[in-house]
Amino acid sequence: MSSKPIADDRDQPATFSWTAESETRIGVILAKYPPDRQASAVLPLLDLAQRQHDNWIPLAAIDAIAARLGMARIRVLEVATFYTMFNLAPVGKWFLQACTTTPCWLRGSDQVMRCIKDKLGIGNHERTADGQFSLLEVECLGACVNAPILQVNDDFYEDMDYETTATLLASLKRGEQPAMGSMTGRQTSQSIAGPTSLTSLKDSDGVPPWYAGRTAAAGGGDD
Ligand code: FES
Repeated sequence: MSSKPIADDRDQPATFSWTAESETRIGVILAKYPPDRQASAVLPLLDLAQRQHDNWIPLAAIDAIAARLGMARIRVLEVATFYTMFNLAPVGKWFLQACTTTPCWLRGSDQVMRCIKDKLGIGNHERTADGQFSLLEVECLGACVNAPILQVNDDFYEDMDYETTATLLASLKRGEQPAMGSMTGRQTSQSIAGPTSLTSLKDSDGVPPWYAGRTAAAGGGDD
């Protein structure tokens, strides 16, 4: 994976100021940490800055966070460059994070990447000319059981393949964001083959026999 890009001077704003809403949120965050441990708030403040500033963090915001937490600028920058969830250059309105780690790769993440290249013409760390889409190839997103995963902004799209990726991108281009979750319709992380174990524990009404027997013995009441 290539290193994280940092916006050049043309894109860097000269200053960064917290909004009133962010200031309120900062007060809540900082109250969680002892006065001599305020640096522990660096992650939530980076996240807050990114959400306030079109999903990327300018260097002026790094300075603002360093000043607020009493940290050296380089310490804040180290954290921001380490975590893939922080962007240090402008990204598209739809920020795509495609997982290509082994479980997702075995389940077809190559198709997802190929579809994004075909439909949007962008590769890793690239943004479409209209500023609508950015792509970042990421390591495990922690949802391997529904691999492959394509994250769009804060939402996970699961069980992706070439066709479902194409459909999703077409919707996003129209400004519509479909419901997140599995693209095969399975509920949460159930087996793709449907229930395969403990199936005898339910009768046709969905009531476990042992439970029905228990309520009959108790006089039919529901406890
Ligand atoms: S490997 Fe892709 S979510 Fe874990």
